[in-house]
Amino acid sequence: MRLTLEHFRNLRQRGEKIVMLTCYDASFATLCEAAGVEILLVGDSLGMVVQGMDSTLAVSMDETVYHTRCVARGAQSALVIADMPFGSYQESPQQAFANASRLLAAGAQVVKLEGGRVILETIRFLVDRGIPVCGHVGLTPQAVHQLGGYRVQGRSEPAAKRVLDDARAVEQAGAAMVVLEAIPATLAAEITQALTIATIGIGANVECSGQVLVLHDMLDIYPGRKARFVRNFMEGAPSIKAAIERYVAAVKDQSFPAKEHMFQ
Ligand code: KIV
Repeated sequence: MRLTLEHFRNLRQRGEKIVMLTCYDASFATLCEAAGVEILLVGDSLGMVVQGMDSTLAVSMDETVYHTRCVARGAQSALVIADMPFGSYQESPQQAFANASRLLAAGAQVVKLEGGRVILETIRFLVDRGIPVCGHVGLTPQAVHQLGGYRVQGRSEPAAKRVLDDARAVEQAGAAMVVLEAIPATLAAEITQALTIATIGIGANVECSGQVLVLHDMLDIYPGRKARFVRNFMEGAPSIKAAIERYVAAVKDQSFPAKEHMFQ
C-alpha cells in the first residue's frame, strides 16, 4: 500500500519525524524503501550527482520523467515526489500543469517546485487541478546565480521574514509539505511552528517535521563539495542498506541533524 499524504499529515500531528531521501533509479528505490525511507525524492540534484554537472539548471523534463519512471518501478509503498526542473514551471501555471502531469504519469504522486510568493498562483493552479505539491524555500538551488552561490538564506531579519513569508505563501496556496533548505535553525523552528503542513529540513533544524538528504552525499560517494549539513552515514556501516537504515533511525530518534549540521 502506498503511503498517502494523509499518513504524513498524521505523522506531523503526532510529532513523528518523516524520512525523505533523494533517489534516481529502481534498485535504490527498492533498497531505500526496504531500509525504511518513507518518501523518495527524484531531485534535480540528479544533474550534479548522476550527470556530473556543476548545478541543477540543465536537468530537462525528459530526464526527470525518465528517472521518475525508474524510481516508481522500484517503489511499492514509499511516496514518490518528482522535482520540476528549472524552466518547466516558471513561465505560466498552464506550462507547470502540462509538465507536472507528465511527472504524475511517470509515477510520481507529488511534484516539488522551488520558490514562494512568486509561484503561489502556480501552486494553487496545480493543487486545484488535483496535483499535490511540495514547496521548497530558503536556499533554492535553481536560483544559484541570483543568490551568488549555495549560501545559507534568511540570516538577516528582513531576509528571515522573506523566507517565512514564502513558506506561508506555499502553505496558503495549498501545498502538502515544504522543504526548508539551508536556513538558520531558529528560523526553521519558527516556520515549523507557524505552519500546519509538514516541513522537511535540509540544513535547517531537527525540529522540522522531517528531514531529507541527497543519497550520494549521505553515502559519501559524491566527489564534489560537501555541505556542512551532510552526515556520512556510510562510515562504519557494513552495507549501503545498513547506512540508509542508520539514516532512517537517526531521523526518527532525532539524533540527526545534530548541532554541527545546523546553522546559527
Ligand atoms: O534536488 C534535490 O535533491 C533537492 C533536495 C536537496 C531537497 O531538492
